[in-house]
Amino acid sequence: MAAEQKFVIAIDGHSSCGKSTLAKALAKHFSYVYIDSGAMYRAVTLFAIQNNCFRPEGLSEECLLRALDEIDISFDKNKSGIQTILNGNNVEDEIRQIEVSSKVSFVSKVREVRQKLVSLQRKMSKDGGIVMDGRDIGTVVFPQADFKLFMTAKPDVRAQRRFDEMIEKGVKVNYEEILQNVKDRDFLDENREESPLCKAEDAIVLDNSYLSRQEQLDWVINQIEKRMLGHEN
Ligand code: DC
Repeated sequence: MAAEQKFVIAIDGHSSCGKSTLAKALAKHFSYVYIDSGAMYRAVTLFAIQNNCFRPEGLSEECLLRALDEIDISFDKNKSGIQTILNGNNVEDEIRQIEVSSKVSFVSKVREVRQKLVSLQRKMSKDGGIVMDGRDIGTVVFPQADFKLFMTAKPDVRAQRRFDEMIEKGVKVNYEEILQNVKDRDFLDENREESPLCKAEDAIVLDNSYLSRQEQLDWVINQIEKRMLGHEN
């Protein structure tokens, strides 16, 4: 039966276009494990901050690389959702803070960091039945993934969604600044030397600028189930 197949589902795309929301919903639908690879880059960034590897002149890669073997990252599921664990501590809230968000691009471009995390990500998926989202999942981490999705949405639509989310949380924000941040992150993700964000040749593109969450979920589930049926025949 289709539902018993253990697919590896790779989701890549631009920041702030709802990858993790969709990935979690898919993992729930198929009873798969969800891995947020961005959380792993954020956890390494937090480690670098805590260990004073960020200096006034920028990230000291030497400092981070010296301590790379000491970094242990895992995930834990409790009733408030999936928690990121860094060296035994739950850092789920801390890694979402603005300080980490503003520094993570410096850490995610370091080759040795990427090598370590890619190897960890592959270990986590050894039994299949996994949905992983990020920037290089279909291109580098799982080039053989059973289903690859590349998500995007217009920058102004993504900025508006983030703006609305922040306002709802009571955070005072400026729309123009958010829009600029969205564009800057796209540029950094797409233009870094190590594993830049790009669509895998065999990925299906989903532009969700004008789709509701439910519409996009139904559409993707349908695409995956069709693929599963194809694998059976
Ligand atoms: O998805 P996110 O915004 O939480 O990701 C945080 C950062 O990590 C983002 O700047 C891009 C980077 N990242 C990456 O380089 N490769 C991944 N597979 C996932 C995230």
